[in-house]
Amino acid sequence: MNPLGLLWLGVCLGLTSGCPADCDCHRKFSFQIADCAYRDLEAVPSGFLPNVTTLSLSANKLTGLGVAAFVEVPLLQSLWLAYNEISSVEPGALAVLSQVKSIDVSHNRLADFPWGDLHNLTALQLLKMDNNHLVALPQDAFLSLQALRSLQLNHNQFLTIAEGTFDALTSLSHLQINNNPFNCSCRLLWLKAWAEDTHVSIPERNSITCASPPSLQGVPLARLPPQRCTPPTARVSHHPSLDSAEVQEGWALALHCAASGHPQPQLQWRIQTPGGTVELRSPNVQRDGQALAGGPKHPRFLAFGNGSLVVPQFSRLEEGTYTCHAKNELGHAEGSVNVTLATAESPLEDLLVRKFQAKRGGGKGCSTMDNEVVPSGAEDNIVIIYLSGRGPQKGKAGGSLELGLWLPLLCLALLTI
Ligand SMILES: *[C@@H]1O[C@H](CO)[C@@H](O)[C@H](O)[C@H]1NC(C)=O
Ligand SMILES: *[C@@H]1O[C@H](CO)[C@@H](O)[C@H](O)[C@H]1NC(C)=O
Ligand SMILES: *[C@@H]1O[C@H](CO)[C@@H](O)[C@H](O)[C@H]1NC(C)=O
Ligand SMILES: *[C@@H]1O[C@H](CO)[C@@H](O)[C@H](O)[C@H]1NC(C)=O
Ligand SMILES: *[C@@H]1O[C@H](CO)[C@@H](O)[C@H](O)[C@H]1NC(C)=O
Repeated sequence: MNPLGLLWLGVCLGLTSGCPADCDCHRKFSFQIADCAYRDLEAVPSGFLPNVTTLSLSANKLTGLGVAAFVEVPLLQSLWLAYNEISSVEPGALAVLSQVKSIDVSHNRLADFPWGDLHNLTALQLLKMDNNHLVALPQDAFLSLQALRSLQLNHNQFLTIAEGTFDALTSLSHLQINNNPFNCSCRLLWLKAWAEDTHVSIPERNSITCASPPSLQGVPLARLPPQRCTPPTARVSHHPSLDSAEVQEGWALALHCAASGHPQPQLQWRIQTPGGTVELRSPNVQRDGQALAGGPKHPRFLAFGNGSLVVPQFSRLEEGTYTCHAKNELGHAEGSVNVTLATAESPLEDLLVRKFQAKRGGGKGCSTMDNEVVPSGAEDNIVIIYLSGRGPQKGKAGGSLELGLWLPLLCLALLTI
C-alpha cells in the first residue's frame, strides 16, 4: 500500500476510533486528551469520544461557538480556547459542561458572554477571560462558582464591577482585574475597600486604574482620594418664598422638592391626577420660567432646576398626588404630598388648619397665620388648596410643612378684586 493510502487508512481509523482528523488523541492516566491546537481550525470539529476530558482548541481560527459545540464531550474537565478569534458564544454552549474545571477563553474577541451558562458550571476552578473586549459583568455571574480558585478578567473593557460580584467565590485565591477602563464613580468605591481587605491575591494593582471621570484618569484604584458618596433623600414641601413673578393669573401652586445626596441627585416629578399621570424630568423650564427648547411652549407644570414645581393655573384637574423622585448612582428616594382644591363644597371647618398662606392673584406674596381659620368674607372668591404631607417619620423641626403629620396648608388666592 502506498503512503497516501496508509494516510487515508489512518484518517479513517482516526474517525472510527473517535478522534477528528485534525486532532491528536491519546489517553494519559485517567485523562482522555484531544489536542487540536495550532491547526487553523475555523470550527469545532466533531467525532470525539464521549469520554474526552481535555480538549485543546487553542491558537486556531475559531470565530464563534454554537450551542452544540461541546455536546459530544459532556465529561470535559478542561477546555482550552485561547488565541482564537471568537466573538460570539451561543447561550447554552458551555452550560452542558457540568464537570468542567478549567476554561480558558483568553485572547479572543468577546464583547459579550453568556454569563448564565456559568451558573451550571459548579465544578469550575479556573476561568481565564482576559484579553477580550468584555464590557458588562452581571452582579450574579459567579453566584454558583463556589469551587473557583482563579479568575482572570484583566485587559477587558469593564467600566465597573457591582458590589458583591465576588462574594459567592468562597474558594477564590487569585483575581486579575487590571487594565480595565474603570469608571471610578461612587459605585466602584467598594472595590478599593474590598481589595485592601481581602485575602485574595490581586496582582498588578498599579494597573487597576480609573479611565473616568477625567479628573481621575490614570489614578490607581488603590490611591483613589476619598469621595463624598451618599444616597439621595427627598422631601416635598410648600416653598414659602416662591414669589409669583412667573404667575400671571389664576392661582398658583408652588411646591419644593428638597433633595440631598452626592452625587447631586436627578429629580423627576410624578403627578397623579384623576385625568392621568404626568411624569416630568426636572427641569423642564429655564430659571426664568421659559420653556426649554424642544418642550411644550406653555407647560402645565413648571419644574425648575432647583427643585421647585409651579402649577401656574391650579384647578380641579391638577388635584392629586405630587411625588418627587430623586435618584443618583447610589439609590433613590421619593417624597410626596396630596393636593386638593377646597371649594365651597368642602367646608373649611373640617380641615385641620395649622397654617395657611394667602396669595393674591396678582402676586403680592403670601401672608401666614398659624392656628387660625381664614378670616374672609367673600367665600366665593376664595380658592383653597390644602396639602397633606407624608414623609420621613422623624424631623418635626422647622419647615413650612411638617411631613409625617397630617398637616394641612392652605393657600388662598383671592380673585382680583
Ligand atoms: C475512553 O474510551 C475509549 C474507547 O472506549 C477507551 O479506549 C479509553 O481508554 C477511554 N479513556 C479513558 C481515559 O477512560
Ligand atoms: C446543567 O447541568 C446539569 C447536570 O448537572 C444538566 O443536567 C443540565 O442539562 C445542564 N444544563 C444545561 C442548560 O445544559
Ligand atoms: C460613570 O458613572 C457615572 C455614574 O453612574 C455616570 O454618570 C457616568 O456617565 C459614567 N461615565 C462613563 C464614562 O461611563
Ligand atoms: C427656584 O427657582 C425659581 C425660578 O428661578 C425661583 O422662583 C424659586 O424661588 C427657586 N426656589 C428656591 C427654593 O430657591
Ligand atoms: C394621598 O392620597 C392617597 C389616597 O388618595 C393615599 O393613599 C396617600 O397615602 C396620600 N399621600 C399622602 C402623601 O398623603
